[in-house]
Amino acid sequence: MSQPLPATNTGPRQPGQAVFDDLELFQTWDRDYYHPLARPLYDRLVQRMVWYLACPPGQTILDAGCGPGEHSIRVAREGYHVQALDISATVLEEARRRAQAAGVEDRITFLQGDLTRLNLSNESCQAIFSWGVIIHIRPIEKALDELVRVLRPKGRLALYVTNKAALDHWILRAGRRILGKTPVPSYLLPMGRGCWHETGADRLWVWHIHIPALIEYLEGRNMTLVARTGGQFTELQRRVNGALRSAMLWGNRAYNRLHLPARFCADNLLVFEKHA
Ligand SMILES: C[S@@+](CC[C@H](N)C(=O)[O-])C[C@H]1O[C@@H](n2cnc3c(N)ncnc32)[C@H](O)[C@@H]1O
Repeated sequence: MSQPLPATNTGPRQPGQAVFDDLELFQTWDRDYYHPLARPLYDRLVQRMVWYLACPPGQTILDAGCGPGEHSIRVAREGYHVQALDISATVLEEARRRAQAAGVEDRITFLQGDLTRLNLSNESCQAIFSWGVIIHIRPIEKALDELVRVLRPKGRLALYVTNKAALDHWILRAGRRILGKTPVPSYLLPMGRGCWHETGADRLWVWHIHIPALIEYLEGRNMTLVARTGGQFTELQRRVNGALRSAMLWGNRAYNRLHLPARFCADNLLVFEKHA
């Protein structure tokens, strides 16, 4: 039997938050991102991230926006205790189920909460990661301020984010122009280009992050960038099937293994340290 989740401070839903109560969205993401050929890339990236977080095993790491718990489970397997936080009770139940199946439930604490108003004390976290989460938060600066607030001095924060400068976006724009398709309406804002995607349940906000602006924002808030590395080289594999998809997934792994430049990748992993 699952335990009730701790009291929440999620409050009334903001625009674009109800979408995360739809488990079908996460099933689509499982298919898009967690293909068996992609898993070794995530295993390596999470190990690299944990190394950059420089937190001794046995300590607690906050997974801010854990979703179905894929990376909480990986980090728990590295010997850490994980505080897995998400805004969606539905997906937290799914994360708990997956942690149980993986045999690491005793190393993960589940917590419902909103990144834009975390119910955690100031400077209470030694290490935090947030994987593919702030890219879905329209008031992104609020979430960043909260992550910095709860991080201890000398603590580290890892962010896995989309990259507005990725080759993917050039290819997609060129493809649309050639096919005579109208561009998707989007907003060019200081933190990147953002747009709303209609889903069955609600609208989903997606940022393509202007990474220099994100770095500058955090550097203005007592943080220093300590590492930047590429994630998936291309996300276009989501749009194709069969041998072409497999070839792209192998390509993503090879690009990452060779440590090729992060600036062309669809996703980047950034690690920051808070000043003492
Ligand atoms: C794309 S999923 C990523 C999940 C997981 N980190 C992964 O990489 O598999 C984004 C997650 O962020 C959560 N999320 C979105 N907005 C949030 C907010 N304001 N506070 C906390 N979690 C949020 C969603 O519920 C969802 O689980």
